[in-house]
Amino acid sequence: MKLSIRTRLGLLIALVFFGVLGFILGSSMIALYWELNREIDKELQLENGWMIQLFETEFLGLLTPGGQQDEALAAEFYEELHEIYGYKQEFVIFALKTETGRRVFSDGGLKNAQLLLPKGFWEQPEGFSNHLLAGRRYRVLISSHSWGFLVVGKENRTFFEVLDELLDILTPGIPLILILVLAGGWFLSRLAMRPVAEVAAAADKITMSQLEQRLPAYRGEDEFGQLVLTLNRMIGRIEAGVQKVRQFTQDAAHELRTPLTILRGELELLYQSPGITEEQLGALQKALDRTIMMSKIIDNLLLLAQSDSGQYPIQKTVFRLDEVLRQTVEDAEILAHNHSLEVRLERCDEVLFKGDEGLIRRLLLNLSENALKFTHSGMIQFTLAAHQELIELTVRDSGIGIPAEDLKHIFDRFYRVNKARTRAEGGSGLGLAICRWIVAAHGGSLHIDSEVGRGTMVRVELPAADG
Ligand SMILES: Nc1ncnc2c1ncn2[C@@H]1O[C@H](COP(=O)(O)OP(=O)(O)O)[C@@H](O)[C@H]1O
Ligand SMILES: [Mg+2]
Repeated sequence: MKLSIRTRLGLLIALVFFGVLGFILGSSMIALYWELNREIDKELQLENGWMIQLFETEFLGLLTPGGQQDEALAAEFYEELHEIYGYKQEFVIFALKTETGRRVFSDGGLKNAQLLLPKGFWEQPEGFSNHLLAGRRYRVLISSHSWGFLVVGKENRTFFEVLDELLDILTPGIPLILILVLAGGWFLSRLAMRPVAEVAAAADKITMSQLEQRLPAYRGEDEFGQLVLTLNRMIGRIEAGVQKVRQFTQDAAHELRTPLTILRGELELLYQSPGITEEQLGALQKALDRTIMMSKIIDNLLLLAQSDSGQYPIQKTVFRLDEVLRQTVEDAEILAHNHSLEVRLERCDEVLFKGDEGLIRRLLLNLSENALKFTHSGMIQFTLAAHQELIELTVRDSGIGIPAEDLKHIFDRFYRVNKARTRAEGGSGLGLAICRWIVAAHGGSLHIDSEVGRGTMVRVELPAADG
């Protein structure tokens, strides 16, 4: 079972509380027990002392060797205890040594105490001991003498009364205390963990595209504050590192662009020069195609690098989105002319849109290129619908479709479903990544649904408020 730190902390607080409470109660009960025993012991000792003296001075001399009068003597002794000394203790037992063993007499609040004594009682050494007699606890003092034993006992009541009383108070109170302590513990740990939860929530929001964000400053100058500072410094270093990589991509793309343009120009010149053989022309054509493709990739890379670092200069103007779409569809019709493909503009609402016209053109071009590239027969269908709050633009084709497991990756850079095939068709896998960025930069969203063998549907939603 997985418990949160908060819960564990709360439980720990409750545990410590009950541990300390138990320890204090336990140790005070033990101390009380010892103290009360000592009190009883002192009383027993005192009584034992004067009883021996009384017995030895007044009765010992009267005992006869045969023990015929012992009963009567014992009765007299006990009477004297009660009447003259007002002695009312629990029990007093005399055990006189005789030739055959011992004769035992008892008296006191506990009737027939001698019969209740546990086995082996007479074998134990002199001194104090505890015994359970007739369901009650007794503190007992045994002393041994030349004539026999004297046993005095007193009920050890006070301690158990206190214990009972305490349990009576605690038993109904404990569930209440438990609830209070658990609630208190939960509250305290929540308080302690709150900054952690806040920082975690903030950290969750930091992504690659928002690395300039930092964790919220924490007021305390404790270990946690230190951790937040350290994490923020770490995010700073990551940001710098990522920035460097982006800058590198941008610089590399930039550096490659110029020589590639020159190369392309020279190839075109060569292509037009006279006296060139058919074979050379073919080779030149191929080289020129590859160069153009490379230029495109580099352009796309540069655009993505700029978008990452927020350096792309987006220029928003108000323009007719429906006209841009019409032009894209016308271009697509021309390209589809050779194939058994039907290009249709199903619906085209008039829409005034505020955005970067160049980027929107690029978006539409990318989508129609994809549709053309991956549809060999059937139809490609465009719609543009202006709703209350959003503009909906769709490109639907009856092409090869995208397998479900690839669908979640197609926005990744350089991701292509079938690399070998798409490369032959001139794709590099950057198109959709760019499309998504363009839509996001206009505050919209892009969704793709697809089914293998049946076709693909791209839906772009742009906020109408921008127009
Ligand atoms: N309309 C579509 N039909 C089928 N597959 C598509 C479609 N659009 C995109 N894809 C798949 O998604 C991949 C990524 O698309 P994209 O980023 O435009 O790259 P590229 O067009 O350069 O290959 C493509 O390689 C292709 O496999
Ligand atoms: Mg593409």
